[in-house]
Amino acid sequence: MLYEVIIPAAGQGKRMKAGRNKLFIEISNVPIIVYTLRIFEADPNCRGIILTINPEEKPIFQSIIDTYQLGKEIKLVPGGQERQQSVRNGLHNVSGTELVLVHDGARPFIERALIADLTEAAYEHGSAIPAVPVKDTIKKATNNTVEETVERSSLWAVQTPQAFRFSILKRAHEEAEKEGYLGTDDASLVEIIGEKVVIVEGDYDNIKITTQEDLYFAEAILLKNKRQQRE
Ligand code: CTP
Ligand code: MG
Repeated sequence: MLYEVIIPAAGQGKRMKAGRNKLFIEISNVPIIVYTLRIFEADPNCRGIILTINPEEKPIFQSIIDTYQLGKEIKLVPGGQERQQSVRNGLHNVSGTELVLVHDGARPFIERALIADLTEAAYEHGSAIPAVPVKDTIKKATNNTVEETVERSSLWAVQTPQAFRFSILKRAHEEAEKEGYLGTDDASLVEIIGEKVVIVEGDYDNIKITTQEDLYFAEAILLKNKRQQRE
């Protein structure tokens, strides 16, 4: 199933506390964003990569693209103040495939098989998101006092790439802008306009690199992937 992907990369990485965009941090001497871009570069079903960036960082992104010889055309588009605005700017630059994916630049371990499952599910149902069952017990609390224990069996931790029919995602973003609604992922905007969103079981390795300790997990996942490739 053919698709284009919007990769938001215009964040500041505040929780990483690295003093710069966390996507430039290297794991095994390669910047995080390169891992993410390589996956889509190598996927023949991916017909376009739209990377939304902070315009001030354009020279850095351009030099990374050149250094790592990322050949497939990557459109560099200015991001916004919030992730949602970055994605919206990306949507203006989609050139016309029926399916569009939105994938965090900070999730470098997405696998091709999951992308394929998601695009198929989105084609059939309109929208599809990867998620994994929550492992911890989750409680609701106010001021450190527990109010209730949430039934775990119905809880999913949601990841990206989130896959959509372009027309649905476009309408969802337009409505959200009109209503002044700010969601933490794209699927929530689709849910609000009453469209169906299906879950595809994701992969616990598909982590979002957010805080310092995630860099250790990332090294471990990379090592595991390298070992598997050798086998
Ligand atoms: N992102 C973006 N535009 C923004 C904010 C975030 O394109 N205004 C991107 C980030 O670059 C990242 C993805 O959205 O690839 C997921 O966001 P997150 O993990 O929150 O990254 P940051 O916003 O950079 O980190 P933090 O929230 O800790 O500042
Ligand atoms: Mg953020």
